Amino acid sequence: MGKRWQIEKKKEHYYRSAKKENYRSRASYKLQQINNKYKIIKAGDVVLDLGAAPGGWTQVALQQVGKEGKVIAVDLKRIKPFKESNFYFIQGDFTQKEIQDTIIQKIDGKVEVIICDASPSLYGIKDIDQQRTMNLGENVLKIANYLLKDKGNLLMKSFQGSGYEDLLKKIKKRFKVVKTTKPPSSRKSSSEMYLIALGFKANS
Ligand SMILES: C[S@@+](CC[C@H](N)C(=O)[O-])C[C@H]1O[C@@H](n2cnc3c(N)ncnc32)[C@H](O)[C@@H]1O
Repeated sequence: MGKRWQIEKKKEHYYRSAKKENYRSRASYKLQQINNKYKIIKAGDVVLDLGAAPGGWTQVALQQVGKEGKVIAVDLKRIKPFKESNFYFIQGDFTQKEIQDTIIQKIDGKVEVIICDASPSLYGIKDIDQQRTMNLGENVLKIANYLLKDKGNLLMKSFQGSGYEDLLKKIKKRFKVVKTTKPPSSRKSSSEMYLIALGFKANS
């Protein structure tokens, strides 16, 4: 059995499951698998989903928070609305101050959880792409510093490379527990990984 064939088969499996279960993307399973293991989101939480389109993670987050919680999704692209009244959407670039201000206004308080599956559109030049990825990470941390409640949780996609260790160090300073994981639904061939940061130290 060729490696390529195995990758395609796995992709097809999650694609079919997502269709059957009405998830908007295969990525839903990544959040499901991570959340089952690390309990990042719980019922009643307010969740900020950065880089959310087409909404696969948002769907899982809405299921987890239930009616008492809230999910605010942000993306450059439009997201087809969900029927849930506790879903809010902001269209724009979350690395821009103007959009960060809009997020802060919309939330009007703090959130228990921030999740970010954003990846920049790739230039094809490794150093530039890595710099852009790290810039997203730095902005997620900046937003967390403003908006995350004490003891809140953060889940963020990242890629190892230049700037990664620095970012990890900064995250470790602000959270009680930091782990990295690659859920089974993430392709082995992809260098993506997920940073899980639990227990935000708001006053550190
Ligand atoms: C891999 S997709 C997210 C998939 C999503 N988690 C799901 O389950 O459907 C990455 C998204 O990040 C968004 N994105 C990248 N950079 C962004 C930025 N600076 N501001 C807002 N969204 C961004 C892209 O538009 C894209 O929709």
